[in-house]
Amino acid sequence: MSVLASKSPSESMVIMTELVLPNDTNQLGNLLGGKLMHWIDIAAALVAMRHAGRVCVTASVDEINFHEPIKLGHVVEIRATITRAFRSSMEINVEAFRQDPLNGIEAHASTAYLTFVAIDQYGKPLPVPQIEPQTPAETQRFEEAAYRRQERLRHREEMNEMRKK
Ligand SMILES: CC(C)(COP(=O)(O)OP(=O)(O)OC[C@H]1O[C@@H](n2cnc3c(N)ncnc32)[C@H](O)[C@@H]1OP(=O)(O)O)[C@@H](O)C(=O)NCCC(=O)NCCS
Repeated sequence: MSVLASKSPSESMVIMTELVLPNDTNQLGNLLGGKLMHWIDIAAALVAMRHAGRVCVTASVDEINFHEPIKLGHVVEIRATITRAFRSSMEINVEAFRQDPLNGIEAHASTAYLTFVAIDQYGKPLPVPQIEPQTPAETQRFEEAAYRRQERLRHREEMNEMRKK
């Protein structure tokens, strides 16, 4: 366990706002999934680096769901929050919302969970501060993160075993 002082999720939270431009869309005028994934990765990386005070790399993206299409001209608000820190890894939850700036109508467009790892200049993982949840919602996300990590590690282990066969 790390001896670094614990931090709350709000200390590193990121809200990123983007406008969907023609170059970001497909033939139907919908935002490309890859573009949204890029914004999600950047927002999550900022959270990890703010929390750890270190360079952090994406270790995995284990769940990303696209609930609603996002159209050309929409505003995309990306809210990224750390749910839990382990030794050197951190789970970040990202929620993307689309808004039509002309009428203000909003919809929840996407949810993702990413794992980042803090590293030194040689790429070696470094310990990060632990998370101290402050609200019931943060506590719930903190507890759920342990379950997701367990599943993630179990899945990795199973895949490694399969590759050995
Ligand atoms: C992520 C990385 C730093 C892990 O290094 P490693 O030598 O395998 O380190 P370890 O096995 O000691 O694992 C370190 C931590 O990462 C976690 N981790 C490693 N691979 C992971 C994965 N695929 N998913 C989730 N967590 C992972 C481990 O659980 C461990 O967490 P903990 O310290 O909190 O317990 C290394 O694999 C790496 O540099 N990957 C490339 C990252 C990158 O370039 N990302 C951008 C993609 S273009």
